[in-house]
Amino acid sequence: MKEPNKNCSKCNRLKNFRNENKKKHPTWFNAPVPSIIEIESELLVVGLAPGVTGANRTGRPFTGDHAGLILFNTLKKFGFSKGMYKENGYDDLELDNCSITNAVRCVPPQNLPNTIEIKNCETYLKSTIKSHKNLRIIIALGLISHKSIISSFKFKQKDFKFGHKNKHDLTNNITLIDSYHCSRYNTNTKRLTQEMFDNIFIETKKILMN
Ligand code: URA
Repeated sequence: MKEPNKNCSKCNRLKNFRNENKKKHPTWFNAPVPSIIEIESELLVVGLAPGVTGANRTGRPFTGDHAGLILFNTLKKFGFSKGMYKENGYDDLELDNCSITNAVRCVPPQNLPNTIEIKNCETYLKSTIKSHKNLRIIIALGLISHKSIISSFKFKQKDFKFGHKNKHDLTNNITLIDSYHCSRYNTNTKRLTQEMFDNIFIETKKILMN
């Protein structure tokens, strides 16, 4: 499985941002954040990109920020993780039948990668998807992640409309389920409630039980 190297320089803006963060916070991870991989998993969750004080600090996707709290709690509730999640990443958390990756591996300024950066990182997403031979469900957290997945399958965006709880057959075996991102903004504004997020995993479980 392809992972970007620690000093990846495909995206100038992201490399510069990483370097700024390295100067300001030399103890932070400040590098492309590797996915959490359980290679036999049937479920892959695809986020947007590391948060500056979350995954970019701790070096593990979703670890250390609000979105992670929601995601890891929900994964536990639905039996996709074992052990105890801690925000600093020093914990015994283990994913169970689930992997987590990001559409973009480096932290972007204002949490917003641009089109070229998303495209540059697509090769890693594609390779992550391909390496999961038992994959049955991909959960896309947010529109950017959804689009990146569709693009990595070389499908036309217009044939796959993003919407919370929308389901799309990507192959005979793999279903994409869209979800609003579990970001602080979305949960504070109630665009995404815990119940709505739970419904994504209820649907996931239903499919996996068939
Ligand atoms: N942290 C991540 O790793 N990804 C997200 O999409 C949000 C927070």
